[in-house]
Amino acid sequence: MTCEFRPAWRAGLLVAVALLSPFAACGQMRQAGRIERNAAPWWRHAIVYEVYPRSFQDTMGNGIGDINGIIERLGYLQNLGVNAIWLTPIYPSPQKDFGYDISNYEAIDPMYGTMADFDRLLVAAKAHRIRVIMDMVMAHTSDQSPWFKDSRRSRTNPRRDWYIWRDGKGPGIPPNNWQSVFGGSAWTFDPTTNQWYYHKFLAAQPSLNWRNPAVEKAMFDACRFWLDKGVAGFRLDAIPDIFVDPGFKDEQVLHGRNAFGEPNLNQNLTENLPEVHTVMRALRKLADGYPGDRVLIGETYLSDIKDQLAWYGGAEHDELQLPMDMQVGFINKLDAAAFREKINQAETQLDGYMPLFVFDNHDNPRSWNRYGDGKHDAAIARIVATILLTTRSADLMYYGQEIGMVTTPPRTLALVRDPAGVRGWPKYKGRDGERTPMQWNSEKDAGFSTAATTWLPIPASYKEVNVQVESAHQDSLLNWYKHLIAMRRDIPALYEGRNIMVDISDPDVLSYLRQQPGQTSAVLVAMNFTDQPHTVAYQLQKDGITSSVATALLEDQGMSKTVDLHHVMLPPFAVFVGRVQ
Ligand code: GLC
Repeated sequence: MTCEFRPAWRAGLLVAVALLSPFAACGQMRQAGRIERNAAPWWRHAIVYEVYPRSFQDTMGNGIGDINGIIERLGYLQNLGVNAIWLTPIYPSPQKDFGYDISNYEAIDPMYGTMADFDRLLVAAKAHRIRVIMDMVMAHTSDQSPWFKDSRRSRTNPRRDWYIWRDGKGPGIPPNNWQSVFGGSAWTFDPTTNQWYYHKFLAAQPSLNWRNPAVEKAMFDACRFWLDKGVAGFRLDAIPDIFVDPGFKDEQVLHGRNAFGEPNLNQNLTENLPEVHTVMRALRKLADGYPGDRVLIGETYLSDIKDQLAWYGGAEHDELQLPMDMQVGFINKLDAAAFREKINQAETQLDGYMPLFVFDNHDNPRSWNRYGDGKHDAAIARIVATILLTTRSADLMYYGQEIGMVTTPPRTLALVRDPAGVRGWPKYKGRDGERTPMQWNSEKDAGFSTAATTWLPIPASYKEVNVQVESAHQDSLLNWYKHLIAMRRDIPALYEGRNIMVDISDPDVLSYLRQQPGQTSAVLVAMNFTDQPHTVAYQLQKDGITSSVATALLEDQGMSKTVDLHHVMLPPFAVFVGRVQ
């Protein structure tokens, strides 16, 4: 595993010091393109839409979204064309990390509704042809979990060893230098038993000890509970973190400091330990025991394609179906060569597995801001959507991405809700900015709620940037997403065709073909990554394309319907998607 591995949002914590430091910074699968359309499991071509329930739709009038709110919006999601929704955690939780601190894995937090509401959601989603994927947090629990309450009670409690307890190096000195992702030591002293417990995240999120088989059993039982109910699978939270090295040595100190002012550490002893793959194989076996192609999606921030391949189970194909690929979506600048390289790696070095591309989620500033230049943001957002939806990939979308919601960080420390932002303020403002309520319309609370105040404020942009306004405008980002999603579903080359890079030395324009094997027709995708017009002369004969014209499938920036392949004129940040043969 690579030592420079850094989860992108965790790397986000390091952005402030990036300039100072070189370190800051199914069994039935076959080769791409050979799968019969109907033989492929659903997830292979899925568009998975991440719902952050707190921020999606409030029906209780308390300024916090809920399950019934999600039910109300299923029609919208079906119309958009998504195949599955991933719900960030809705289990009972003290909400110290907004649900990623779970106190009961087999229930629903009353804040979001009841189990009966959840059951209705499953039925209603099915009626809308949408699958429901749960977030499963296996690396840690809440400190309010009965498991941890038992564990901390005494050194001899039967659940003591469910968590990671160690003696300190001396009075007040933690067992080693391991750090919490949220800043500070990863160890907290517990006076009841005079030992320290390990927590990769908050002290309120003690890490589980996966070397104890009882932990696997309890967690797998929780998975069964939801699979029995009919959920389509899991998004596995912080999954590379479930094992730590049993030697408990200090981690190597790297150059530079993170946003919390602490030294950067090489995280080889606390992330991506090989033992995790044994657990993934067992979990896959469990999921495969259920009908209907249940899916395992991993929160895998990896920087190397070989590591990515390992999470699928390598040649055995027996681990995750969709470990997230954060390498494409988090390039974070419109660099044609970098996109060409990363997309091509996913196409050619994953042994035919389907990559799951991700540009947006609840832990990172929105792609609108990460890629936008402040002047051409709308055009750049269309480019991001086009890369996501026209490459050969399964895709993850994050609520609000489709309407161009902007990151809206809190203005003062008093307004910060995310514990990481509280700790990192003012250098790192946390993740509230990408978690603001969904903007449905121009009315009160953007149609999200009727409450006097919402849990995070509604961004100022909501009057123009919302579903209702954008639905009515043919040229809106929302309609751009809808067109792309429909094309991807209806055009076989975009559905499963190979991804072939063309015009590969162009530093400014990213171009590729999507083509089914043996076909002479294809779809050409071209995107101008610069603020200057560019003209491209394509030579596509070797790909079996003999005609010299392309017919546009999407209209962007007034480009003509038919273009001469020897002279494709792309306005600044323009996108061309057209049929060639
Ligand atoms: C994952 C989640 C993030 C959470 C962390 C701890 O990275 O996406 O939101 O804070 O795990 O559970």
